[in-house]
Amino acid sequence: MICGERIRLRAIEREDLPRFVAWLNDPEVRHGLMMYMPISQAEEEQWFESMLKSPADQHPLVIEAITEEGWVPLGNCGLMGIDWRVRQAEFGIFIGAKQYWNQGYGSDVLQLILRHGFETLNLNRIFLRVFANNPRAAHVYEKAGFVAEGRMRQAHYAEGCYHDVILMSVLRTEWQARQVEN
Ligand SMILES: CC(C)(COP(=O)(O)OP(=O)(O)OC[C@H]1O[C@@H](n2cnc3c(N)ncnc32)[C@H](O)[C@@H]1OP(=O)(O)O)[C@@H](O)C(=O)NCCC(=O)NCCS
Repeated sequence: MICGERIRLRAIEREDLPRFVAWLNDPEVRHGLMMYMPISQAEEEQWFESMLKSPADQHPLVIEAITEEGWVPLGNCGLMGIDWRVRQAEFGIFIGAKQYWNQGYGSDVLQLILRHGFETLNLNRIFLRVFANNPRAAHVYEKAGFVAEGRMRQAHYAEGCYHDVILMSVLRTEWQARQVEN
């Protein structure tokens, strides 16, 4: 487990899959994601089986929050495509339980995953892609120390419109400097 004060990140279990399917079929959740086709339980199971065959350090993790009912799953996050030579990885996240949006959980996840990326995996650069029409996500990333470094013009298409995709990254030295400041 990767533990914070009110959230923790744990491995995905087979029992999580129906919840993932429900979340990933929700248009509001998908708005910020690259998925554009409905997803079935069978497809999710297939994804799970291939994920198990990939290296453990690249597995996405379930985000759980402590509530009055105990630990509750909120969504999923991970560092993908780790390049061990350049020491970089791409971050991805979705909080599928929408009732938990805007309560600081996404920001908490960023704190935990950046520490994990830099201090456990010994990465040097963590980057992400965010759609220009997803200002909440861009704000959360900026607050966590990500810097916009590029803009892929009209690289996303949704609901009949093109949208830019913003590339953001944080370097290990930048992250370390913020730890000293805070
Ligand atoms: C993006 C996401 C991870 C953010 O997590 P969250 O828990 O909702 O975010 P937080 O509560 O930590 O922070 C939200 C911040 O965005 C701000 N915000 C909310 N709506 C906003 C908007 N339309 N424009 C700009 N900022 C906005 C809030 O005020 C808050 O800022 P503050 O902390 O400075 O007060 C989550 O909403 C989510 O999973 N969305 C669906 C999937 C998705 O878009 N994933 C990202 C793909 S790149």
